[in-house]
Amino acid sequence: MHCREIPLTVWVLMFISASEETCTSRLHITAVEGEPFYLKYCSSSPEHEKKSTTIKWYKNESHGPVDLNLSSSPRILLRGYVLEFWPVELTDSGSYSFQMGNDTHGWKLNVIPRSKHSCFTEKVVTSKAVEVKKSLQIAYHSNIIPALLGPKIDKVKVKLGKDIELNCSALLNEKDVIYWNTWRKNGKDPNVHEGEVTRIRTSEGKWLASTILRIENINTRNLNFAYNCTAVNQGGIDTKSFLLLVEEDMVDIPGHVFTRGMIVAVVISVVAVCLVTVGVIYRVDLVLFYRHFMGRDETLTDGKTYDAFVSYLKECQPEHGEEHAFAVETLPRVLEKHFGYKLCIFERDVVPGGAVVDEIHSLIEKSRRLIIVLSKSYMSSEVRYELESGLHEALVERKIKIILIEFTPIGDFRFLPQSLKLLKSHRVLKWKADKSLSYNSRFWKNLLYLMPAKAVKPCRDESEVLPVLLKS
Ligand SMILES: *[C@@H]1O[C@H](CO)[C@@H](O)[C@H](O)[C@H]1NC(C)=O
Ligand SMILES: *[C@@H]1O[C@H](CO)[C@@H](O)[C@H](O)[C@H]1NC(C)=O
Repeated sequence: MHCREIPLTVWVLMFISASEETCTSRLHITAVEGEPFYLKYCSSSPEHEKKSTTIKWYKNESHGPVDLNLSSSPRILLRGYVLEFWPVELTDSGSYSFQMGNDTHGWKLNVIPRSKHSCFTEKVVTSKAVEVKKSLQIAYHSNIIPALLGPKIDKVKVKLGKDIELNCSALLNEKDVIYWNTWRKNGKDPNVHEGEVTRIRTSEGKWLASTILRIENINTRNLNFAYNCTAVNQGGIDTKSFLLLVEEDMVDIPGHVFTRGMIVAVVISVVAVCLVTVGVIYRVDLVLFYRHFMGRDETLTDGKTYDAFVSYLKECQPEHGEEHAFAVETLPRVLEKHFGYKLCIFERDVVPGGAVVDEIHSLIEKSRRLIIVLSKSYMSSEVRYELESGLHEALVERKIKIILIEFTPIGDFRFLPQSLKLLKSHRVLKWKADKSLSYNSRFWKNLLYLMPAKAVKPCRDESEVLPVLLKS
């Protein structure tokens, strides 16, 4: 198939369309006479942020820069970063500069005459031959001045000992260079590493180039130094500086302080748990020590006569001999003679005759504790009354506390009244003839713990200090 070639004339408009968004990054600009035209400064920060700083536009004439203002020409309008020409004329050709604080930027404007006989200007027309039905890409060969992104001085917050990556990016042409300047008089810092340059082609045919400067384990030497990044070509140069500043408001807890803190916290927790455990195990000893140390006495003001009423099986048959001896001899020997309590033992303290039941009731009322020496044959009618009277006081009137002493092992408590089972189980003390003899044994300590606190200690014979021996 034969394809006919036709000449296609393309004329290239050399000025940027009047869109508010596009800034004028090229240094040399050609405009056509009689067209509306503008120059716009390329700022890294939004225009409204810099309202406070004064902006000036100049045209550089042969005798020096001339300040442009609204009265310069009715065609010229100044709007912040934008200098507008309504329209641009041949006389506007020349060099323009923009100044804002320390920032300045310059352009060279070349206004070309409009052709009288055609709708385009011959000077800026390029011809190109293309084949029909083939695609054509029109490349703009104008070079831009490389422009670094972001502020000219970038202050970066860092922490000493940490790493940081500084990202320097620029909009530039394909062949333009971008590089870091990290050399100092006495050589390069060993902890500073330059990365490769990556380039991405933009939709306008320019390049977005980026290069990373990695600073590892930041030290104080890195702080007072400007890490400069430069992008350059024949048309111009752009440099920006990165300064590292120590971030002060966020002071990290150093690792070793944290570790020590954790260890202290763990030790304190362990000690607390141990203290609680010891306290639970040695609760009885601690309470007895406390009573002794403070001289506590809870028997002074309650108007009662006896510290405890001892209830036991009174029939003194041979098979109950030990039980009887325990209640009538061992208990008083230890509690009265050694520890200074006053017991009420019916057989010993009550004169025979009189109404036994009334007597028992009033004696229990005058006692602070009811000690019941339990055994399988305990439930005889007389002690049963003592038990029930005591239980009534304990459970209903809450005037007396009951201490159960299991004298012979009793697996089965079913013979006891139901209400006795409501008493807390730890109030049942087990008498073990082989282990409970010494005054310091757990049995007597537990019994003292259940007895009322009493300060008075009796004067006792030296012989009384010896362990009690149970008669058998
Ligand atoms: C550096 O910044 C540019 C422009 O913001 C971005 O496109 C690029 O991905 C960044 N590079 C890295 C490694 O973050
Ligand atoms: C970095 O740039 C600043 C400002 O342009 C300049 O004063 C400084 O000397 C430069 N530092 C280096 C190391 O090139």
